[in-house]
Order: sequence, then structure tokens, then C-alpha cells
Amino acid sequence: MIRWGVLGAARIADSAVVPAIRAAGQEVAVVGSRSLERAQAFAGRHSIAKAVGSYEDVVTDDAVDAVYVALPNDLHEPWATAALSAGRHVLCEKPLATDAGGARRMAAAATVSGALLMEAVMARFHPRTTALLDLVGSGELGDIRAVTASFGFRMDRPDDYRAHPEQGGGALLDVGVYGVSMSRWVAREEPANVRGLAGFLPTGADAWTSALLGFPSGAVASVHASFLTAPYQLVEVVGSTTSVLVPEPFTAGRARDAQLLVDGRAPIGPWRADPYEVMVRAFAAAAEAGAREAPLPAADAVATATVLDRIAAATRPPR
Ligand SMILES: NC(=O)c1ccc[n+]([C@@H]2O[C@H](COP(=O)([O-])OP(=O)(O)OC[C@H]3O[C@@H](n4cnc5c(N)ncnc54)[C@H](OP(=O)(O)O)[C@@H]3O)[C@@H](O)[C@H]2O)c1
Repeated sequence: MIRWGVLGAARIADSAVVPAIRAAGQEVAVVGSRSLERAQAFAGRHSIAKAVGSYEDVVTDDAVDAVYVALPNDLHEPWATAALSAGRHVLCEKPLATDAGGARRMAAAATVSGALLMEAVMARFHPRTTALLDLVGSGELGDIRAVTASFGFRMDRPDDYRAHPEQGGGALLDVGVYGVSMSRWVAREEPANVRGLAGFLPTGADAWTSALLGFPSGAVASVHASFLTAPYQLVEVVGSTTSVLVPEPFTAGRARDAQLLVDGRAPIGPWRADPYEVMVRAFAAAAEAGAREAPLPAADAVATATVLDRIAAATRPPR
């Protein structure tokens, strides 16, 4: 059994990942917060034996095998690196880092330490995503011509780190990361051309970003990320022979059936799964087996971060 340490009494840790660790039969040994009171309250809600008032006390705790980093995006690199240097495996929230340079440094730190590093893109672990990528790989859709990957919601909290570029905020890093990852997984290669448009909050963080990715195969992906829309997400993959729609592609969970809607056919599925739990199980199994790579290798997050950097460069606000 893997013993976890949690960095930050974050909403996503509270609502999804810590419950998933427990459901996967793993132990949460310690939770750390900037505030001891918040850590204690979090520990109380989740029956965690130890609460500490610093992140350092989590990464150096010998009762911890793996650290889950649920901090604002600018803190992923320093704290994941500290945990890796202390010999802990690291499951780090998306995006792995605020840019590709950071993601590469983190991957290098994992290689040096011999510990696992994985970006917590839980959507990759939903069985419906595996089925989608198998369907694409089978050639049943023909040659892939177009991918559309959209993810938006209303982000109205000005105090949220998402509104602040210096904390790694912005819609591209927050939800565009999913669309870019999905487009790369479907295309099974890296884009040769990147174009984009964006709109910005007064803070300088992007409120929305739309990008076109041109792949060497000729496939084109359009990725839309926004803080200004109703909750909305969709993936559509169009091949030379047929197409598939993927409703709620990124956050489908146990609550609802997940399906693949292939044009002209009966829906495929349904699947019902908690992708966080599947992710935690896969990560823990790799750690216990002494695997050299996480089930979603850190190199995948580096490749996604490289595309995110290119989109950001193509959409930078006028000075
Ligand atoms: N995979 C998913 O489904 C999913 C969903 C949502 C978010 N996420 C990712 O998870 C991470 C956390 O997101 P969240 O929505 O859970 O955020 P959140 O509720 O704001 O939590 C972030 C935590 O970071 C800590 N923190 C340290 N320094 C901070 C600072 N200067 N400002 C704000 N918080 C600070 C705080 O914990 P303490 O005060 O307790 O130390 C806070 O609770 C992000 O990387 C995000 O991209 C993933």
C-alpha cells in the first residue's frame, strides 16, 4: 500500500483526489497546509491521522511514499521538485508546470531521484478515453482530419489563482491543457503549426484562448478554453470515413454514463468510472512495482507544455 502526503487543503483534493485515494485502498498519512487549522480541519473531514502546518513537513515525512501536489500552478514545480529530491513519488495536478522549461526540469528531477512523476490528467484514465483512443488507433474512423476540443466555464472569482498570471492562471493553462492533451493523444504526434487568438483579464491572465494545431499528418485540432462560458465541454474527432462525438470528455465520473457517439451507429458504452480512482490505482501500482515510468509518463506532460507554450507565444497580449 502506498502512503500519501497531500500538499494543500485544496478544493480538488477535498472533493475528488483524497476520496479517490481512500477508495483505491491507499492511506493518506499526512496533509499539509499553510495553515495548521486548515490542515486539521481537512484531516478531520477525511480521517487523516496527521495534519501539519507546512509543506516541507509533508515532503520530508518518512511515513510518506508519494506526494500529491494540489497547489496553484506556479507552486507545482518547486514543491514537486522538493518531494522528488526527498525521494517521494509525485502525482502533480495539471498543468505539470507553468511552462515547458519547468516541466522538463521536473522530469529531469524525477529521473535523477528514480521516483515517479505524473501529471494528474485524470481524464486519460477514464475507460471511455481509452476506448476513444483505441477506436482512433483501430482505423475505424479512417485518417484523422479534425479534432475539436472545448472546455469552458464561468470563472468569476477575482481572488482565485486562476485570475493571476504570476500564479500560473489563465484559461489556457487551467482547461486548455485538457484540449491540447486530448488533441495530441488523438493525433498521436506533435503539432507542426500553432496559431491562436485570446482575450485577457485586466490582470493579464487569458480569459479565453482558442488555438489551431496543424499536425504533420494533415489533421487539424481546434482547442477552445474559456473562463467566460456556461459549463461546456466537448470533443469531436472527424476521420475520413466517420466521426465520433465525446460528450463531457474531461470530467465524466461515476455520476453519469459516458458514451462514444459514432456517426450513424448505436452509442458505444456506457462506462461509469471514477477517473481519479483509476488514476490513483494505476499510479500506486506502478510505484509498488518499482516502474521507471509513471503510467502517463512525465514526457507526455512535457510535450503538452511545449504546445501550451507555443499557443501562449502565438496569443500573447499586446504590450
Ligand atoms: N484534475 C482536476 O480535475 C482538477 C480540478 C480542479 C483543479 N485542478 C488543479 O488542482 C490545483 C488546485 O486547484 P484547486 O481548484 O483545488 O485550487 P484551490 O482550492 O484554490 O487550492 C489550492 C491550494 O493551494 C494552497 N496555496 C498555497 N499557496 C497559495 C496561494 N498563494 N494562493 C492560493 N492557494 C495557495 C492552498 O492550500 P493551503 O492554504 O491549505 O496551503 C489552497 O487550498 C491546480 O493546479 C488546478 O489546475 C485539477
